[in-house]
Amino acid sequence: MNQQSAETVERRKIWDIGLRLFHWALVICVGVAWGLGEFGPNVMTLHFYFGYAVIALLVFRVIWGLVGPAPARFVHFLYGPGTVLRYAKTLFQRKPSYWPGHNPLGALAVFAILGVLFLQVVTGLFADPDDYINVGPLAHWVSSDGTRLASQLHELASKLILALVVIHVAVIGFYKRFKGENLVTPMITGWKLVRKDRL
Ligand code: HEM
Ligand code: HEM
Repeated sequence: MNQQSAETVERRKIWDIGLRLFHWALVICVGVAWGLGEFGPNVMTLHFYFGYAVIALLVFRVIWGLVGPAPARFVHFLYGPGTVLRYAKTLFQRKPSYWPGHNPLGALAVFAILGVLFLQVVTGLFADPDDYINVGPLAHWVSSDGTRLASQLHELASKLILALVVIHVAVIGFYKRFKGENLVTPMITGWKLVRKDRL
């Protein structure tokens, strides 16, 4: 149990089934949409379908962030700069955080990933690369300058999301290897070892 005594740490259900299904469905849908966008066939019908699935997942996440169980709620992992800095100072200590939810730094990453995904799907709806094939379903609502901008932002967002996901997975590996904390199993089972003195 790594330097923390059994009295101060307990096993608690942190991630509810809705949040866990959301996460792993998001991994699949974003992964497939990204792969189809980057390497898929010229006609992007399937890309659109997986993109719509991501929209549905984001809508669910916003609702869950407002009315879901405590650890899933946005206010629960909305930390001030002081808390983020204090947490950042402990990052390189070789011990688990036992944080009951997203820790203050991880929370920033969560908001960044969700924000970039929002940009990704909204710009996809308005994108039109002038190929007359892959026209976003709402592209006719905006001017040709608008669709061009949407296409450029859609491409930029796909690069940002790749970078964020690489960092996301690398940091989870860092927690496992360096801090001795497994964050993946809790995202599968819901159960996590957490400090008793919070939440
Ligand atoms: C396309 C790829 C991925 C995306 C878009 C993604 C996105 C996210 C998001 C949005 C969250 C926050 C969950 C929430 O409260 O809404 C999250 C958390 C998490 N993700 Fe991912 N993820 C991806 C891939 C992965 C992979 C491959 C793993 C496994 C190695 C993973 C493991 C986790 C874990 C363990 C957490 C919880 C972190 C914590 O304890 O605070 N993710 N991810
Ligand atoms: C997480 C979801 C999504 C990801 C990761 C994603 C990713 C991508 C990528 C990597 C490309 C190729 C960009 C390039 O190199 O030019 C692309 C193109 C495209 N995507 Fe998406 N996309 C997503 C969602 C959507 C949605 C919801 C729509 C609309 C329904 C959409 C519509 C388009 C269109 C029209 C193109 C071709 C236009 C262009 O190249 O800008 N995408 N997408």
